[in-house]
Amino acid sequence: MTGVDILLQVGSCDPPFHKYGRSLGSRDRVFRNDRNSHGGGVLLAIKEGLYPVDKCEFDTDDHEIIWAEFKTRKVKKVIQNGGFMQSPPDGKVKIYDCEGVPLTEHFQKPCTIEALKTWQARQDDVSVVSYPKAGTTWTQEIVSAIVNDGDLDQVNKTHTTFRTPFLEATFLYSTKDIDVPPTHEIIDKMKSPRTIKSHLPGHLLPPDVMEKKSRIVYVARNPKDVAVSYYYFHIGHTTLPRYETWNDFFEDFYAGKVVYGPWWNHYLYYWKRRHEPNVLFLKFENMKKDLKGIVERIADFLGYTFSDAVLDRIVSHCTFENMKANPMTNPDTLEKMNVKNVESIDSNDMTPKDRPSFMRTGKVGDWKSHFTVAQNEAMDALIREKLAGSGLVFEC
Ligand code: PPS
Repeated sequence: MTGVDILLQVGSCDPPFHKYGRSLGSRDRVFRNDRNSHGGGVLLAIKEGLYPVDKCEFDTDDHEIIWAEFKTRKVKKVIQNGGFMQSPPDGKVKIYDCEGVPLTEHFQKPCTIEALKTWQARQDDVSVVSYPKAGTTWTQEIVSAIVNDGDLDQVNKTHTTFRTPFLEATFLYSTKDIDVPPTHEIIDKMKSPRTIKSHLPGHLLPPDVMEKKSRIVYVARNPKDVAVSYYYFHIGHTTLPRYETWNDFFEDFYAGKVVYGPWWNHYLYYWKRRHEPNVLFLKFENMKKDLKGIVERIADFLGYTFSDAVLDRIVSHCTFENMKANPMTNPDTLEKMNVKNVESIDSNDMTPKDRPSFMRTGKVGDWKSHFTVAQNEAMDALIREKLAGSGLVFEC
């Protein structure tokens, strides 16, 4: 019997691979779709002959080859190791109150949040911290390009989700018997310098991050665009509560009852610390206005200096259009690959069929086509009230 070709989407969640290994047949061909510092566990395990795999293409680090295989549908099966967000096993999203912040029980597990209280940061970590939909992925891509010294070939070898893992998240898998370690334990195994993503509000961020003075790049966005972006992110995302209409979502967002809680507390915590030497506070709107200036500012903050040509290349890599088109920077890629059989997938379109694209508009002011007059007035009043006296203002 001939084996199936398997595209092994590996990355930051290598450790549970040994469990996948059991399901491989003796003639299965494994393509390794990643080669990064923390991917070593898989290579080692295969080389040690732990799996009955007769051909491993894992040494190719040319993403184009791998992607071409995927596109031509030579690859029949995808095993995603280190995956993206999936629904809780029973399909029910349960919210709990985590010190005043609504979080989901399956994704930001209570035990993870507890463990993060004593989690050890490293001095040379760079954390990209934000309220959801404020420009996290964009910022993490810029940071990643910088810490890779502007080497975009290197950057493009690994999906952004694996280059900059999501600190408080526990990824779930379609394969039931897999015991996935929490991401922070995987991050513990990563080589320095590590880049880490988190949406945690200040009081839940591991205290050691501030104590070690490891760097935090914080990005905020005008709350009206955040609301709209977050609303669309809820559509078809079974990891998040379901909202029937924009109006329903707006009510919860306005009241600070959505997952990760009120945007204003989140913003203000980091805004008040913006002069700390390890904190850089950015705004999405300024990134839109002057991306090159912001790339330079982040580079300076992280201690890097680049020639104009390298800066231009980083800027081009991080434009909305290029990040949307690049499977290694568009988060939809992983959603798309997170299926067992790729036959049914149109691999030219990376957005899953049942939800809006992650890289949706990337615009400032999209709220104008969603907010009613009353919602706009209410939101303006809320912004005035919550940010009063702070000096934090947004163009919206
Ligand atoms: S998440 O899921 O919370 O991490 O989402 P996050 O990355 O914070 O926010 C997603 C929104 O950021 C937009 N985005 C960009 N805009 C402009 N340029 C670039 N390069 C870029 N990358 C991501 C993305 O389109 C989402 O905003 P909306 O308004 O929904 O388009």
